[in-house]
Amino acid sequence: MTSSVGQDFDTSTLQFPFTIALLPIVLIQNECREVGKAKKPFTPPKEVHVQVTHSMPPEKREIFNSLNNWAEDNILVLLKDVEKCWQPNDFLPDPASEGFNEQIKELRERCKEIPDEYFVVLVGDMITEEALPTYQTMINTLDGVRDETGASLTPWAIWTRAWTAEENRHGDLLNKYLYLSGRVDMKQIEKTIQYLIGSGMDPRTENNPYLGFIYTSFQERATFISHGNTARLAKEHGDLKLAQICGIIAADEKRHETAYTKIVEKLFEIDPDGTVLSLADMMRKKISMPAHLMYDGRDDNLFEHFSSVAQRLGVYTAKDYADILEFLVARWEVEKLTGLSGEGRKAQDYVCGLAPRIRRLEERAQEKAKKGSVSTVPFSWIFGREIKL
Ligand SMILES: [Fe+2]
Ligand SMILES: [Fe+2]
Repeated sequence: MTSSVGQDFDTSTLQFPFTIALLPIVLIQNECREVGKAKKPFTPPKEVHVQVTHSMPPEKREIFNSLNNWAEDNILVLLKDVEKCWQPNDFLPDPASEGFNEQIKELRERCKEIPDEYFVVLVGDMITEEALPTYQTMINTLDGVRDETGASLTPWAIWTRAWTAEENRHGDLLNKYLYLSGRVDMKQIEKTIQYLIGSGMDPRTENNPYLGFIYTSFQERATFISHGNTARLAKEHGDLKLAQICGIIAADEKRHETAYTKIVEKLFEIDPDGTVLSLADMMRKKISMPAHLMYDGRDDNLFEHFSSVAQRLGVYTAKDYADILEFLVARWEVEKLTGLSGEGRKAQDYVCGLAPRIRRLEERAQEKAKKGSVSTVPFSWIFGREIKL
């Protein structure tokens, strides 16, 4: 196509709705060329799975309607009153105070001793939090519980909006802290966030709230564990303020885990067969991490590299994955389920025996990795400095 702006570019790869705003595309596409990538703009850097939609039978939507009162009494009560919530400003130098400059100096002094590898993991966690629009979108793909209007008064929609509002503080706080630290390349980080939100995520939850709430139960616990570990490491490195920051975020994740696991517990009570089949389905597909499509314009395996460092530092490991599964199976008393169909019993056996299997595979993989050569990778987030994987 010839362009009116006199540029030589190919629009054949552009997709709706972006073709309607041609000029910005030209600029963005040129920027992609600048970093030497022939990627299609606004598509995930990696292939997503075959996308299954609306796998929950429509009659099951009624279950969620019938749970409205229950959700009000059991789930909405887990939200915290905004007036009683912490805000990022409580943990950051106060720009309106006289001592602002001094507080920033102290902050930068405190994190001087923290190694680069810790920052790589904290940045990855922060970027994960910053892709919050994707997670709200994901929850609103779920049949029977989505926010139909943007201000819907169903308890499901109220929960999702307020949950998002609570989560929004996590990325804000970590982002501001990292910005003030002076230790990281903010422009590269901001670029990664923009790429990630543009790419979305592929959790394979199929508009199905059974799958969706199993996914969020797993994820809230995973983030609780990883923020808990970054808190522990910050303390070990002598930055107690940062430890407090990661700890306060971990506490939110724990409360969110309580809510989502309660919903799934209720589904197990109402529909044990459907729920155990859903749990087995999610575990067979594997719970993908929310930021798995992460890209910084440079490293095609950025998420894998970030995950390797998180694994090596013990922030989030394959063992944690197995532990979360085991925890959830116990929490939902999956072993004790009775009256299941043949398929349901198979699913029950599968999920109950899965955690030890994952651990065995993990041990073998670790042994193999120990024998292999140790490689290092440059991370653009820390100005291209090399980190051991
Ligand atoms: Fe969070
Ligand atoms: Fe969360």
